[in-house]
Amino acid sequence: MSKTLQAIKFDSGDRTLEILDQLKLPHISEYVSIKDTKDGFDAIRSMTVRGAPAIAIVAALSLAVELNKKFVVEPTSANAEEVATYVKEKLAYLVESRPTAVNLSRAAKDLTLLVDENKNNGSGKDLAELVIKAAEAMLEADVADNKAIGKNGAEWAIKQLLLPSDSSDSKFSALTICNTGSLATAGYGTALGIIRSLYSSGRLDHTYACETRPYNQGSRLTAYELVYDQIPATLITDNMATALLSQRERGPRGESHAPVRLIVVGADRVARNGDTANKIGTHQLAVLAKHFNKQGDAVRFVVAAPTTSIDLNTATGADIVIEERPQHELVQVRGPEVIGGQVSSDSEHRTVHVAAPGIDVWNPAFDVTPHALIDAIVTERGVAEKNAAGDFDLDVLF
Ligand code: MRU
Repeated sequence: MSKTLQAIKFDSGDRTLEILDQLKLPHISEYVSIKDTKDGFDAIRSMTVRGAPAIAIVAALSLAVELNKKFVVEPTSANAEEVATYVKEKLAYLVESRPTAVNLSRAAKDLTLLVDENKNNGSGKDLAELVIKAAEAMLEADVADNKAIGKNGAEWAIKQLLLPSDSSDSKFSALTICNTGSLATAGYGTALGIIRSLYSSGRLDHTYACETRPYNQGSRLTAYELVYDQIPATLITDNMATALLSQRERGPRGESHAPVRLIVVGADRVARNGDTANKIGTHQLAVLAKHFNKQGDAVRFVVAAPTTSIDLNTATGADIVIEERPQHELVQVRGPEVIGGQVSSDSEHRTVHVAAPGIDVWNPAFDVTPHALIDAIVTERGVAEKNAAGDFDLDVLF
């Protein structure tokens, strides 16, 4: 199959769902069919689909596919109350697939509210239809939200980082971590959406992508998206970020790239005070931005997230549950063989072990960046900045 960035394919006619298998990217583009909530749960848990918005959308659509089969296509005597109970049970099951990203539990809460509000009107089939339509609407809204985040973030960064005296072709470079692009969402992306938007505006000189150990979303997925869109970019390992930021005039290997002035990351959950859980390794980038941010040579650290990633019910980052992934994801790597110096396109993918057998492993999937280190939280509804006391007021976005 030819290369694609479309992570989620939902056919609204026959109500079938397919997702791009992100375990096989970037070498193989293959869709897997999601036929029910069990398939949805397994795809999310195994990271066949990942990224906070994509997880929530796939969970909701997997429920839509199941409801369509059970209560719309097949004749049913279930009443609305019974369908509501069924929906709530399935949502409770789906939210257990991954704990940190709030988008999934928020989608579950919204759908729970929808069925509770409508369980006394109409038939079971009518209620199933309502949930299916709501799940479809999530898919549609996400792309528009991401484009707005891209626009808001690019405008903010240009205003912050380029002085009125800068020439009309002045540029800066950006650094990002994990994958926050089309593959992590319904399309376009959040942090990667800002990079896409900045590149289109002609103000982005170069993008650096952190490899994002241990799961390599940066080297496998973000790098794939950047190459696909032909955005000038360089891959670094996570522990090269300080060396990269130290290059205030020149890029690596002596190339004259504009210095990195923007570090832009996604979010799995933004707490009420702005503390942000995102891919492990994010916090250290925020510390770096603070360290290198000097008068006359600004480095800004920006979180890009749809408002569905903001959790006003979680007071601070200390209350966010951080998922721990299985040990094997850190010590094993999977991919095609390299034969004669070339990536073999037709070899079976193989798994190799890259650590000393027997060593204990800690594998948290996310860390929490304190709001004190965050300059702005860019959403589809606008950009939140801290007040003079150093506090975010995220309520104003709702
Ligand atoms: O473990 P993952 O790959 O699901 O982690 C993804 C991230 O941390 C992203 O930065 C976040 O979900 C935002 S995606 C738009």
